Amino acid sequence: MEKMINLKDLLKHEVQDLYSAEEQIIEALPAMIDKAQNKQLKQALQNHLAVTRKQKERLDEVRSLLNDEDAEEENGGKSKGFFSKFFGGGSHKCKGMEGVIAEGEKIMGEDMNPAVMDAAIIACAQKVEHYEICGYGTARAYARELNMGNVAELLEETLNEEYEADDLLTDLAVGRLNEKAENGEMRSNRKPASRSKGASTSKKSAPSKKSAPAKKGAATKSASPARGSRTSKKAATSKRSKAK
Ligand SMILES: [Fe+2]
Repeated sequence: MEKMINLKDLLKHEVQDLYSAEEQIIEALPAMIDKAQNKQLKQALQNHLAVTRKQKERLDEVRSLLNDEDAEEENGGKSKGFFSKFFGGGSHKCKGMEGVIAEGEKIMGEDMNPAVMDAAIIACAQKVEHYEICGYGTARAYARELNMGNVAELLEETLNEEYEADDLLTDLAVGRLNEKAENGEMRSNRKPASRSKGASTSKKSAPSKKSAPAKKGAATKSASPARGSRTSKKAATSKRSKAK
């Protein structure tokens, strides 16, 4: 790998990382869809698979824009540096997403009550989303810093979709599915509530059903404060806004 000499090189690296992440998610989602029992969850994951395919195409646009800019710089006598070879071929695998997905596959391979499986799938999917939110937020901040408005807009479009997916998963979990897992529902082909209760991790973290939503909400929405602070000040006002 060539030496990275500036923020633009770092942006290129982040984009490449995100590209690999999206490819891995496209591969991993069908198994999650297959395992999900709740119809709404299944549908949400299916929808997100379609969205993810578009996000990968959007990253193709981003790479094309960045490559065009490099070509212009080269014509102007500036060095293309790190990026030219990075997008010109070769492979790069996002190890972070690889690990998140491997962790998800491991838990989905466990023998568990269907309702507990749904809760586990949501947790896996949210880890994926949070990783992406971090990556896209960072890349957008770099693009803004570099005055690459068109690149920043494309990245923001995907970032907003990742937030929406994360929020939907939180709503599904807090709205119903965590409680179903806690109660061991959907156990028609299994027995004892006591066993599934033991399997649920929500018992310890939620002292009572009434207080559970607030706690669970706080836990699953833990990324929220970072939305306004991790990338840039501008991010705080526009991140959730779909208006361009
Ligand atoms: Fe994505």
